[in-house]
Amino acid sequence: MIHDMHNEILKAEVLVEAIPFIRKFASSVVVVKYGGSAMVDDALCSLVIQDIAMLKYIGLKPVVVHGGGNEITAMLERLGKKTEFLDGLRVTDKETAKIAEMVLSGSIGKNLVESLQSVGIPSVGISGKDGRTLLCSKKTDAKGRDLGYVGKIDSVDSTLLTTLIDNGFVPVLSPVGVDSLSQTYNVNADYAASAVAGALGAQKLIFLTDVEGILKDKNDPSSIFSSLTEGQALSYIEDGTIAGGMIPKVQCCLDALQKGVKSVHVLDGRVPHAILLEIFTTKGIGTMVTKEEA
Ligand SMILES: Nc1ncnc2c1ncn2[C@@H]1O[C@H](COP(=O)(O)OP(=O)(O)O)[C@@H](O)[C@H]1O
Ligand SMILES: [Mg+2]
Repeated sequence: MIHDMHNEILKAEVLVEAIPFIRKFASSVVVVKYGGSAMVDDALCSLVIQDIAMLKYIGLKPVVVHGGGNEITAMLERLGKKTEFLDGLRVTDKETAKIAEMVLSGSIGKNLVESLQSVGIPSVGISGKDGRTLLCSKKTDAKGRDLGYVGKIDSVDSTLLTTLIDNGFVPVLSPVGVDSLSQTYNVNADYAASAVAGALGAQKLIFLTDVEGILKDKNDPSSIFSSLTEGQALSYIEDGTIAGGMIPKVQCCLDALQKGVKSVHVLDGRVPHAILLEIFTTKGIGTMVTKEEA
């Protein structure tokens, strides 16, 4: 009996500890990039949804930008198409772009919207095509290689996003964009998230992925950097410490900081309640990237 009471008091203390963080972040925009690799199963997905719902109930303004790498790859396989990646970016022919759009906007985005709504959060799924939110042009990679219909985001029109946010909806954005000639592009979701965070003047940008954070040794979870500065991050891309899908992610961290986002976090989406742990407790769990030494 006394033991039970003690447990209940501990729970209350956890809530009270969050007060300064709630005060600090209430009404600020937090962009959460979720998936593809972090979307491992329904159970974990519903924990992520709970976290996002909690942010909204507390008064923050979450915006979800989702990926879908694994599901796109699986769908392409079912249709007998092979996938090629160049430094973490998918090479996308016209048909692949179409399939990616169907999976992202038609399936993953709408599932996230309904999951949020099932816990009482009004939500609307849009892609970068809606309201021409993500205006793109064709991207060639850093080494000048053609990636097909992979878009580089030239501008973000945040009118639709702010309309939704101001009316109490949590926007769920699929990383699909158009150019001025109405050509559809597949955009790396990390780039979409950082562009949107910049355009909305977000307080935080959170990347949920399938590793503990940014690692010194990709195969050793204990080698996590708890924080990195811009300069350090750049040198780790150059020397190959940061590779594959982590390259665009880290470039996005730096890009968002440049645009005024206060802090960028790379978190392990497989850890239950990673978002709440990161925002509402003093001990962070992933890697925080900042412009200068924190
Ligand atoms: N230094 C590093 N630290 C962490 N992950 C790294 C590093 N270098 C490469 N990676 C790879 O980057 C992957 C994350 O990128 P990606 O597969 O595109 O996931 P997401 O779907 O979350 O964007 C990790 O699973 C890991 O294999
Ligand atoms: Mg990726």
